[in-house]
Amino acid sequence: MRKIIINGGRPLKGEVAVSGAKNSVVALIPAIILADDVVTLDGVPAISDVESLIDIMTLMGASVDHDGETLTIDPRGVKDIPMPYGKINSLRASYYFYGGLLGRFGQAVVGLPGGCDLGPRPIDLHLKAFEAMGASISYEGEAMRLSTKGQPLKGAHIYMDTVSVGATINTMIAASRAKGRTVIENAAREPEIIDVATLLNNMGAHIRGAGTDIITIEGVEKLHGTRHQVIPDRIEAGSYIAIAAAIGEGIKVTNVLYEHLESFISKLEEMGVRMTVDEDSIFVEKQDKLKAVSIKTSPYPGFATDLQQPITPLLLKAEGRGNIRDTIYEKRINHVAELARMGAHISVLGSQIIYDGPNDLTGAAVKATDLRAGAALVTAGLMAKGTTEISNIEFILRGYSDIIEKLRNLGADIKIIEGD
Ligand code: UD1
Repeated sequence: MRKIIINGGRPLKGEVAVSGAKNSVVALIPAIILADDVVTLDGVPAISDVESLIDIMTLMGASVDHDGETLTIDPRGVKDIPMPYGKINSLRASYYFYGGLLGRFGQAVVGLPGGCDLGPRPIDLHLKAFEAMGASISYEGEAMRLSTKGQPLKGAHIYMDTVSVGATINTMIAASRAKGRTVIENAAREPEIIDVATLLNNMGAHIRGAGTDIITIEGVEKLHGTRHQVIPDRIEAGSYIAIAAAIGEGIKVTNVLYEHLESFISKLEEMGVRMTVDEDSIFVEKQDKLKAVSIKTSPYPGFATDLQQPITPLLLKAEGRGNIRDTIYEKRINHVAELARMGAHISVLGSQIIYDGPNDLTGAAVKATDLRAGAALVTAGLMAKGTTEISNIEFILRGYSDIIEKLRNLGADIKIIEGD
């Protein structure tokens, strides 16, 4: 079992570049199944979720060439075979294979998706949309079979009862090659949805309204090859901006789209964080006093649930009392006990996290229980006095590209060791 070891308290400075968006690329790769030619993605992050998806695509018969940040996929050899359960179970976003396979073959046999444990994470909205488009659902052991029984998938009018990123993207993918028009109402508006729509449209799909809450897709018979640049990862950007505000002595975070981070930046400004926003970068100054604030997460353009945990160590540095309410995933609280182990005054009260600051953190042996909790522990470890030892680091490597190298370049004393 590998561990991350951090000798904290070192001032960090310099420049860090944000990689391509994890939550885009995990949808873009399965969407490529729909193409009848080669598709190339640029700006692909070096994360283990991408490796898992490449393994799955290869097992299905796609030919894949991965060279640094460029990923070239020829999906023409993909076969309509049951998906390997172990791999599928390793990441939540494997649900996008339902949309890709259903759109191309009219059927998919896929194991139930895994991913971080943030409490209940149903996929009922995805299935409701596929059923509305003519697919029937049955279960085979640990796998689910979706099938249109030889009929083409047909366009449908779909109202999403809850705003869901995954269900919106999955419906868009499946509908791209369906017969007729699909309308998604109460669609999610995250930037990753626009990114997937852009790829599909460049492959020949007819999608309008991505980024608004009504998306219309006119199905087409065929999709062709293209080349696509993955958007920058706004969650990774926010994580480094939080690190910079917590322990930086002048850090420029580059490859950032400010408009994707407006609610996050507003919160930092409310805390008193001094920053300069440029066209594609944000410079964060060394901070003095920060003010405690309260955070409530909500769907985009609200404060992202994925940034709730990464910003928590910074909140702990602020003076006063504040609370965090995650309205998307109420059980996204696993970082709290670990931060308390490092000396933080933080606890869970009902459906809220309450903290009092400022706190001086002390290094400790802690456990990353999920991806973004892991990011919070890395930040806390960088801030803390002494040595922090983080176990379960596979979660962190699923979503943060080259995190050790990026932090070392800023001056951090951080390394991965083989644990027992
Ligand atoms: C995506 C992101 C994840 C982020 C989340 C919310 C990816 C790969 N993951 O996850 O990082 O934290 O959006 O921004 O992009 N829901 C249902 N039924 C469904 C689907 C969702 O009730 O069929 C509920 C969920 O339990 C949750 C809410 O809807 O409370 C939003 O979830 P959703 O946007 O679907 O999350 P994911 O797409 O899985």
